[in-house]
Amino acid sequence: MNHRAWMRSEGFTPEVFDGRPVIGIATTWSELAPCNVHLHRVAESVKRGVWQAGGFPLEFPAMALGETLLRPTAMLYRNLLAMEAEELIRANPLDGVVLLSGCDKTTPGLLMAASSVGLPAIMVTGGPMLSGKYQGTDVGSGTAVWRWEEDLLAGRMTEQECAFAEGCMARSNGHCMTMGTASTMASMAEALGMQLPYSATWPAVDARRYETAQRAGQRIVSMVESDLTPDKIMTRAAFENAIKVNAAIGGSTNAVIHLLAIAGRLGVPLQLDDFDTLIRDVPTLLNLQPSGKYLMEDFCYAGGLPAVMRELGGLLHTGALTVTGASVGENVAAAPCWNRDVIMALDQPFQAAGTGTAVLRGNLAPDGAVIKQSAASPQLLKHRGRALVFDSPEAYHQVAADPDLDVDEDTVLIIRYCGPKGYPGMPETANVPLPAKLLKRGVKDLVRICDGRMSGTAYGTVVLHVAPEAAAGGPLALVRTGDWITLDVPARTLSLDVPDDELAARRAAWAPPPRLATRGWTWLYTEHVQQADTGCDLDFLIGKSGAQVGRDSH
Ligand code: FES
Repeated sequence: MNHRAWMRSEGFTPEVFDGRPVIGIATTWSELAPCNVHLHRVAESVKRGVWQAGGFPLEFPAMALGETLLRPTAMLYRNLLAMEAEELIRANPLDGVVLLSGCDKTTPGLLMAASSVGLPAIMVTGGPMLSGKYQGTDVGSGTAVWRWEEDLLAGRMTEQECAFAEGCMARSNGHCMTMGTASTMASMAEALGMQLPYSATWPAVDARRYETAQRAGQRIVSMVESDLTPDKIMTRAAFENAIKVNAAIGGSTNAVIHLLAIAGRLGVPLQLDDFDTLIRDVPTLLNLQPSGKYLMEDFCYAGGLPAVMRELGGLLHTGALTVTGASVGENVAAAPCWNRDVIMALDQPFQAAGTGTAVLRGNLAPDGAVIKQSAASPQLLKHRGRALVFDSPEAYHQVAADPDLDVDEDTVLIIRYCGPKGYPGMPETANVPLPAKLLKRGVKDLVRICDGRMSGTAYGTVVLHVAPEAAAGGPLALVRTGDWITLDVPARTLSLDVPDDELAARRAAWAPPPRLATRGWTWLYTEHVQQADTGCDLDFLIGKSGAQVGRDSH
């Protein structure tokens, strides 16, 4: 009576307590997260579906993480969202949950949470923005910003033109509409089998997004009845599918970290090297920015993710189970492709197999580093150059416009102390703009090496996720300006050409940076965060503990 009476204060009739499944709708809606700001409306469609199917829907907020406003980086809070949502799902009397996400970290954060609880769960991502339009051409979110920033620095664009262009890029609700991290993670959720077919690609403002949300509401009630839990869907086969789909869509390198973290919650064995070895025979099929030409709206009209997955055919585990209750193969068997310039054929791909994410190792990255080959300049994939070292992106930005900066097109730019512990939160700082001196000479790319991440909307020959990071005492901390560095992507190596005895002497003289916090979340995070090669989860959050609470939970 206690529980019912207080719920009656929301105006529900007594019939909602007749034993029907109670469905939580975890929403990351917030005006501080523009990419998720329409999720309130999406939730209304989900509720319709839940009511239709005989469930009792209850919407609740989960921490909203907006990529563009949060300081120092939304990634610092992904695990906090995952922890908060996990506890909310477990602590409330729910039978199943619908996960509403949009911006980059909200999708993996909610999937991590649902994985650790284990109740039936289905995801509905918020969908991409409409294509940006500026001066008669399509402009992609993020990708265009990097270009305009360089144009401004190089004097090819005025401040006024930049201000006008901003409004032309982000012109509707939705998440970034290039194949950046948000679009990538929405696609990963669909490829893993955790959201309904086509969910990743309907534009945020398209009526079919709301129709799909309603169907998800219907579906979660059936999933509760058949006890279709995340561990039955997100198996090793599902993760292999997601990794291959990520290669086929030219997805973000951030997927590496997020998929490792989700797998860690489920106890699915997944290694960093899987992201290289599993995709060697998978070409890039999608001609989307930042690697290609088109945007998510075009991808939707061309047939969406099911068309890509159908094209991959036998490269995928087609028997993998999904939230539909059917297999991946059954879901995509009849998926048409309407535009071969956007979704290319397996035998005539956009980029050949083997040009996706490469995992590098060597004395500069003993635990690994990654590079997105499709976003890099082919001529720089084998490169030897002298290091120019900065201990923070801010230190670099202070001198980036200096016309006398000692830099040329062979320089290897090192931006370090940007890892999970070092910044903290592993921000997307790796793709710093080129020095103004080189931009003015028409240089378009430079090898950059960083223990941070790169926005999925960015491009360039950028080595990322170097592990261990500098702040954890990784060899990146020992590099000095002028050292020779060799990058050999075909051989998957990254080396610092300094003798071992010299490196040992430098290590003896090295001191870890001062603690960034002595209390609060940042302290907890920096004390417990894992390195990039295992997904940057907190050590005590890895794994799952079920849906029971209190004395029953362990
Ligand atoms: Fe939120 Fe890109 S900034 S999706």
